[in-house]
Amino acid sequence: MEFSKFRLENIEEIKQLFIKTFSDSEGQSEGILIGDLTFDLMTKTESQDLHVFIATENEKIIGSIIFSRLRFEKSQINAFLLSPVAVHTDYQGKGIGQKLIDFGHDDLKKNGVELVFTYGDINFYSKVGYNVISEKVVKAPLKLSYPEGWLAQSLVSNEIQPISGKSYCVESINKSEYW
Ligand SMILES: CC(C)(COP(=O)(O)OP(=O)(O)OC[C@H]1O[C@@H](n2cnc3c(N)ncnc32)[C@H](O)[C@@H]1OP(=O)(O)O)[C@@H](O)C(=O)NCCC(=O)NCCS
Repeated sequence: MEFSKFRLENIEEIKQLFIKTFSDSEGQSEGILIGDLTFDLMTKTESQDLHVFIATENEKIIGSIIFSRLRFEKSQINAFLLSPVAVHTDYQGKGIGQKLIDFGHDDLKKNGVELVFTYGDINFYSKVGYNVISEKVVKAPLKLSYPEGWLAQSLVSNEIQPISGKSYCVESINKSEYW
């Protein structure tokens, strides 16, 4: 198993991984929605606002995670949003998701990223250091259909200082259906 940053020639394979994984877990329409989101993120986001990591085995991509930039109205803090995450159905439950996210966090930290956020299942994301965060501390960029799923961690300290004002995600994920 190898962990690395993605390259442009991986984009189509990564999209197919997300389609397959989310179709298996949540049905085909969700698979297509998330596959399209990943393609959009990888093709339309400025490179300084995107970090994509992959897990490969025998040159086949079996896991991928995408971080895109979060900006704030009143703060210059260096922050990214982790979404989405996929480990191929046949390879789940072996610790690959956890190792891939740890690998991504290490790389982001080396690149000066201070805060990471995600929106999803606390049971999984708590294994890689995320905790529920109130919108009174940091506002999400869009209205949350499931506020308990707004999660964050600092890569540089033990606590998260409140950030006042609005937050903004990149264009591709700036749609209510993802929130
Ligand atoms: C969620 C997902 C990324 C986890 O990847 P994985 O490689 O199977 O996870 P790991 O084996 O690294 O599991 C790490 C820990 O999280 C737990 N975990 C894994 N999937 C979980 C889930 N769906 N819900 C709750 N906990 C989960 C594991 O039990 C493990 O805990 P343990 O160390 O106490 O045993 C993968 O199952 C997946 O791609 N699912 C479909 C798509 C999805 O739901 N993506 C996430 C939302 S964007």
